[in-house]
Amino acid sequence: MNDATAPVARRAHVTGWGRYAPAQVLTNADLEKMVDTSDEWIRTRTGIRERRVAAANETTASMGAVAALRALHTAGLQPDDVDLILLATLTPDYWMPATAALVKEAIGNTRATAFDVMAACSGFVYGFATAQAYIQAGLAKHVLVIGSELLTRFLDYTDRSTCILFGDGAGAVVLSASEEPGGALGVEMTTEPQGAYMIWLPAGGSKSPPSAETIARGEHYVRMEGNQTYRFATKTMATTALESIRRSGLEPADVDLFIPHQANVRIIEAVAKGLDLPMEKMFINLDKYGNTSAASVPIALAEAVNEGCVRVGDNVTIVAFGAGFTSGAVTINWTADPARGRTADDAVRPEDVAVRLPVDWDSVDPIPDALAALMTQPGAIDVPLDDVAPGEPERAHAETRA
Ligand code: ACO
Repeated sequence: MNDATAPVARRAHVTGWGRYAPAQVLTNADLEKMVDTSDEWIRTRTGIRERRVAAANETTASMGAVAALRALHTAGLQPDDVDLILLATLTPDYWMPATAALVKEAIGNTRATAFDVMAACSGFVYGFATAQAYIQAGLAKHVLVIGSELLTRFLDYTDRSTCILFGDGAGAVVLSASEEPGGALGVEMTTEPQGAYMIWLPAGGSKSPPSAETIARGEHYVRMEGNQTYRFATKTMATTALESIRRSGLEPADVDLFIPHQANVRIIEAVAKGLDLPMEKMFINLDKYGNTSAASVPIALAEAVNEGCVRVGDNVTIVAFGAGFTSGAVTINWTADPARGRTADDAVRPEDVAVRLPVDWDSVDPIPDALAALMTQPGAIDVPLDDVAPGEPERAHAETRA
């Protein structure tokens, strides 16, 4: 968008994709030791077997930066080729600045506009649609859309109805302008404010600033009315996807693969039933990651492509729902060589990615007490992300945990 004289290119093609999942695994068996639940209950009610937990030195920005660099590697682009960075999250590193700004610096981009998108689990799809609009308007040539979440630091590990569902991770795509046919087609997005308090995080905002009292009440944790959310999700995922497909000039049977928000396998089964489609058309990886909110669709998309589930010419519908209530779907006619993403994980190592920290401030230990033992078990990998920006003097950064 810094180049207003660029020729208007009307179509937005996915040219890059990448994802990052922290190494530490939190299994259903681990959760059995924390709350009154069982592996059997979690698997049959949600489909989740395990989820990932970010290490103490990882953040939403650091995970997002790794996924973004992997997406750029897949696209064969340099960081400065990007002129817009959109980062979807409900778990930003700080209230301000935008986490997208931290990612911009971490990936070595000097020229992009960068801002966050806040639409909970629909955030990545909202960001994708925004990027598509920028490209179609001729305002951007290459856009990075990132979904990154560090939910394990906002969960009450005494509340079995929420803590079993969520995990950490990041995914990203590059959307590039082209006049070639294909690329992103029909978009549908909805917001239903009557669901505002069905999934919410009460304290920390201007209505209820953080205080000892809000913490004592546990109001800094995610709260959810599971049944109401489930009802909304099953209805809206199908109708939102259908509207996106129709706006693309297609019918559900023309879609080769759906990449649904990975919240609950029963919700995805209901969507397949609602659209009269077999479950083989639904990509599922929630068994490995749980619900990673805004990261779930881009992680699933990157894995689906890398695993050979998407071919050039396929129609792919990404669809999500989330707090708000929000929902969003975009149908994509896939044009990129699926093999391009397979070397991205090896090409971009998390230990080579640095998110700069302030020089006169250290955060408290960010690992929740309930997870501290897990994070010190043998096998927990504490990836040493360097916190010093290139050219800056080194500073001590103690990553101590109780
Ligand atoms: N282990 C064992 N029992 C449990 C657990 C658990 N982890 N959690 C709840 N239960 C119990 C309940 O207490 C209840 O017991 P009761 O009958 O004695 O009262 C029973 O299991 C049934 O509870 P329900 O809530 O009716 O269970 P349901 O089948 O609806 O599943 C679930 C709950 C998994 C939360 C489901 O409602 C769901 O997936 N909802 C959607 C949630 C979601 O996707 N949220 C993300 C939104 S995206 C975003 O923007 C963040």
